[in-house]
Amino acid sequence: VNTLRVALLPGDGIGQEVMAVAEAVLKTLIHGHDLPLAYDVLPWPATDWHRRHGAMMPEDALPRLREYQALLLGALGDPGPLSDPQRYWLPDGVSLAPLLTLRKGLDLWACERPARFYPGTVQYLADDRARDLDMLVIRENSEGEYVGQGGRLRADTREEIATQLEVFTYTATERLIRHAFERARQRAAERAASDSPRRFDGADGEPRESQVCLITKRNAQAFWGTLYDRVFEEVAADYPDVATHHELVDAAAMKFVQAPWRFDVVVASNLHGDILTDLAAVLAGGLGVAPSANLNPADPSQPALFEPTHGSAPDIAGQGIADPRATLFSLALMLEWMGEKEPIFYGAAQHLHETLVSDLAAGHPACGTDEVGARIQGALGGGR
Ligand code: IPM
Ligand code: MN
Repeated sequence: VNTLRVALLPGDGIGQEVMAVAEAVLKTLIHGHDLPLAYDVLPWPATDWHRRHGAMMPEDALPRLREYQALLLGALGDPGPLSDPQRYWLPDGVSLAPLLTLRKGLDLWACERPARFYPGTVQYLADDRARDLDMLVIRENSEGEYVGQGGRLRADTREEIATQLEVFTYTATERLIRHAFERARQRAAERAASDSPRRFDGADGEPRESQVCLITKRNAQAFWGTLYDRVFEEVAADYPDVATHHELVDAAAMKFVQAPWRFDVVVASNLHGDILTDLAAVLAGGLGVAPSANLNPADPSQPALFEPTHGSAPDIAGQGIADPRATLFSLALMLEWMGEKEPIFYGAAQHLHETLVSDLAAGHPACGTDEVGARIQGALGGGR
């Protein structure tokens, strides 16, 4: 059995607090499941590191992170004394958003954000069918609206013109959409195995057991809309067992609220996926429980990066009230992903996931970060 190595990256703000809980939980799991796992806690990327070293992370950060099989990140971003543009972009155009550097630098081109309603979480929608919500949003993570190209002409004058370029390539689109269809198939197989099938209408009127919904804004942004449409049709032909659907992003936002139970796998561009996943997270009980995974499905030798969908929440940082469960659900995703390398990790992933689901179902009143952590620790230890 290989010993796998992971790095914990607490980052900024509440990232520090929720990661302390995740580390304790990880220790319990290593112990209880005899996991062949070694971990390091790294002080970067972080704004504090930036204060002391003038950069969010060391120059050799990417090669050092590549030594690990997986990374768990708390949160990044600290308002400090800087204004937003100063905070996110250095004068030479280098992004201070190290999250984007990590996703790009490690070639993690797919971001998976599952949104599933678990009893006991906040039900924001009045319609009880919203409890059947179980969707997976797959977000493009390498290009699109996030390429960081553009500029400011006549900056800081009343004639200022800001440009922001969007780039969509066939290669990135094809691998993303193909991955979405693969995941749809896999989800259908998992549902069949647990005897909880779902039905989606195929274009031919016949039912299918899974669905991929493509998101674009092709009525206003026809260039990349046409590329996405063409690739979607091309890839879909290889998956006749999967139903296909398309929504414009604005209509999708409406339908996520109106009838979120109708969605299965949703595939979207970088920015559309960013926006829709905050919406999906709230339908699934809020950012306090929403996990995410940044992956390179074509090259699992790249370390995958797992993180809660929430940010560093400077408004509540240091108060010990952040919900650590989004990070713990992300840790469960990480352990599940590691199961593909060493199957023993599947058991630990399932144990943690089920413990979190029961913890939610118990409907405990809101309490502090460490209290939630201690409760879950207890349940993990006691449950074995
Ligand atoms: C997210 C965040 C990031 C994004 C920000 C911090 C750059 O909102 O992970 O969803 O937009 O990707
Ligand atoms: Mn976001």
